[in-house]
Amino acid sequence: MTTNSSANPPVNTPATPGNPDAPAPVSPQTEAALASAAHAPNSPGATHIRSFVHRRGHITQGQLAALEQLLGKWSIPYAARRLDPAAAFGREAPTVLEIGFGMGETTEKIALARPGDNFLGVEVFNAGVGSLLRRIEDSSIPNLRIIQHDAVEVVRDMIAPDSLAGVHIYFPDPWPKKRHHKRRLVQPPFIALLASRIAPGGYIHCATDWEDYAVQMLDVLGNEPQLKNTSDGYAPRPDYRPLTKFETRGLRLGHGVWDLIFKRVA
Ligand SMILES: C[S@@+](CC[C@H](N)C(=O)[O-])C[C@H]1O[C@@H](n2cnc3c(N)ncnc32)[C@H](O)[C@@H]1O
Repeated sequence: MTTNSSANPPVNTPATPGNPDAPAPVSPQTEAALASAAHAPNSPGATHIRSFVHRRGHITQGQLAALEQLLGKWSIPYAARRLDPAAAFGREAPTVLEIGFGMGETTEKIALARPGDNFLGVEVFNAGVGSLLRRIEDSSIPNLRIIQHDAVEVVRDMIAPDSLAGVHIYFPDPWPKKRHHKRRLVQPPFIALLASRIAPGGYIHCATDWEDYAVQMLDVLGNEPQLKNTSDGYAPRPDYRPLTKFETRGLRLGHGVWDLIFKRVA
């Protein structure tokens, strides 16, 4: 995906039928949960540049209804304390973190294809969270949970060192303008933090369709001492990562996609 699609529309964006300007009804609890996620309030010590921006965007009635009804069922609220994955998932299993799942199509497919692993998806975008909540409910996916918050703070505050079996970062916002490169997620300080959360032998898998971001990823991951490349440069796309519709179209148009898979060294 080649858009800077990160956006957190206000909760009341959609109009109710018959009165186009009226806000859709949202319970006080949902309003409070979404407001806190939408503003991603700085927790103590947060000084980093955000990799997303808050913009008005479209949210469907279905996504809003999913937020209203399912956020409490399938999401874990952000808190500045360590998460207990066994308690969150109701079982002990390897935990894979996905950062920026967008609308969650890929996340759903991977979670269904790998029932032995727990998947923790982190996203800030209301419509995307609503969309994945709906998928979890409709496909009865027991091994997937969502945290709606800035992934940098989630990794820093909630994920224990040496604990993750894997990390997926697929098509992160490319921030193509040079003056915006500082907003890219894959930067040395964040990757050092993230690598410290991966268990020895665990992996980090990134994919992008922006060549200069692919080069940056290879450089950043390659220079992180806690990580080792599993390939000589870019990796072939592994079977567990399905092709996205953007990717299928891009490949038809001759655009490239680059996968990178590195392992955490002991
Ligand atoms: C270009 S989209 C890609 C979505 C999806 N991975 C895909 O392949 O279609 C990048 C997503 O990352 C999310 N994102 C960016 N920075 C984030 C952060 N710090 N924490 C959580 N989500 C973030 C954005 O909201 C956006 O939905």
